[in-house]
Amino acid sequence: MNLLHYFFGSNKQRAKFIFDLIAPLYGSIDKSVQKGYAEIAKKLNSQIPLENFSILDIGTGTGGWLASIAKYSKMKKQGVDFSDKMIHQAKKNHPNLNFIKMDADDMKHFEDNSFDIVTASFVLHGMKAKERGVVLKEMARIANKYVMIQDFRNKTAPFVKVLEFLERSDYKNFKRNFEEEMQNFFNSIKIIECDNGNAVYVGKIDTK
Ligand SMILES: C[S@@+](CC[C@H](N)C(=O)[O-])C[C@H]1O[C@@H](n2cnc3c(N)ncnc32)[C@H](O)[C@@H]1O
Repeated sequence: MNLLHYFFGSNKQRAKFIFDLIAPLYGSIDKSVQKGYAEIAKKLNSQIPLENFSILDIGTGTGGWLASIAKYSKMKKQGVDFSDKMIHQAKKNHPNLNFIKMDADDMKHFEDNSFDIVTASFVLHGMKAKERGVVLKEMARIANKYVMIQDFRNKTAPFVKVLEFLERSDYKNFKRNFEEEMQNFFNSIKIIECDNGNAVYVGKIDTK
C-alpha cells in the first residue's frame, strides 16, 4: 500500500492505507480508547449479559472494543482486521486475546452460527452502503444470537469530522440510514444510546 492508493485507489485500498499508517499511534492510545468504551460496555452488559456468549470482533483495530466487552464473557473471543499493522498492535496490547488478519467481506474461515455475538466498532461507517450490506450479511451469517454495531448516531465532535473527511468515510449517510439498513437483516433491533452521541445497534438473530 502506498500514497497512490490513498488518492487513486478504491475505498477499501484507501482505508487500508490509512489504518496501516496510523496503527502505531492507535496502539499507543489503546488504553484511553478502552477507557472510553468501558461505560458503554458496562451498559451493554447490563441490558444483554455477555457472560455466556462467545464474541467475534470485526475490524478490531488494536483490540480496545474487544477487550472492553471481553472482560464480561467467559467464552471464546476473537478479533479480526485487514491491517497487519493493527493486528500487530492488538497482539502486543492484549496478549490474552486472539487476533488474526482477515477481510470483513470475506470471512468464510468462520462457519455459520459459530459465534454468539459478532460485533464491529467504528468500522461500518467507513464503508459505502453496498459494502456495509455485504459485511452485515457476513456478520449475520456467523452470529448465533446477536450482531452488535458500535458506531456514530447523533452529534459528531468537530475533530472527528476532520478525521472522517480525511478517511473520506460515509459517516453522514451512515448516521442517516444505518438503522433502516439494519432492518433489512434483522426483525428485531435495539439501539443502546451512549452519552457521547454514539450508539450500539443490536440486531437479534431469529431463532434458527
Ligand atoms: C476506526 S478503526 C476502529 C478499531 C476498533 N474497532 C475500535 O473501535 O477501536 C477501524 C478498523 O477497521 C478495520 N477495517 C476497516 N475496513 C475493514 C475491512 N474491510 N476488513 C477488516 N478490517 C477492516 C481497520 O483496519 C481499522 O483497524
